Amino acid sequence: MELSLPLLETQFKSWKGCPLSENANPVFGEGDAKAAIMFIGEAPGEQEDKTGRPFVGAAGKFLDELLASINLKREEVYISNVVKYRPPANRDPTDLEKEQCMPWLKLQIALIKPRVIVPLGRHALGHFLKNTTISNAHGKAHKLTDLVTIFPIYHPAAALHNGGLRQALYDDFKALGEFLKSIG
Ligand code: URA
Repeated sequence: MELSLPLLETQFKSWKGCPLSENANPVFGEGDAKAAIMFIGEAPGEQEDKTGRPFVGAAGKFLDELLASINLKREEVYISNVVKYRPPANRDPTDLEKEQCMPWLKLQIALIKPRVIVPLGRHALGHFLKNTTISNAHGKAHKLTDLVTIFPIYHPAAALHNGGLRQALYDDFKALGEFLKSIG
């Protein structure tokens, strides 16, 4: 049997390799299984845990607005997280939790084969670009291979706490939209 995204999701739902799964629901990811662009957040929050869907709370509403600002709908992209279960009280995920969940993200990327990967915030960024920070790397294309570009953007939740970042996020999405146009 050949591995597909739906099969991976089914297998993921019975996985118990991360202790967060004892007290939270699995949030695999959603969107177009053949998306050219993949957005990767940190970990599910309360609404995501309740619904089993990524980015459906306040940060998700803002992400939808940002996508709309460059004429993208969430069904046209793929949205996922590094950590697949909500950490208690939305604390930062630990390095161990990120490592435990990482094989699933790697398999999602291998199956979807996006041309552009957008890490949202520092937790996701750290898995793609080392030796940099989100404040230095955001809003710019970082070529990984001839076929894959990493385009980091601040986490949308950051703008909910720091209003000054709102415009930076819109500017980064504008730059992302221009980059997407440039690669056709
Ligand atoms: N924040 C994230 O990083 N991911 C979600 O799915 C929701 C909020």
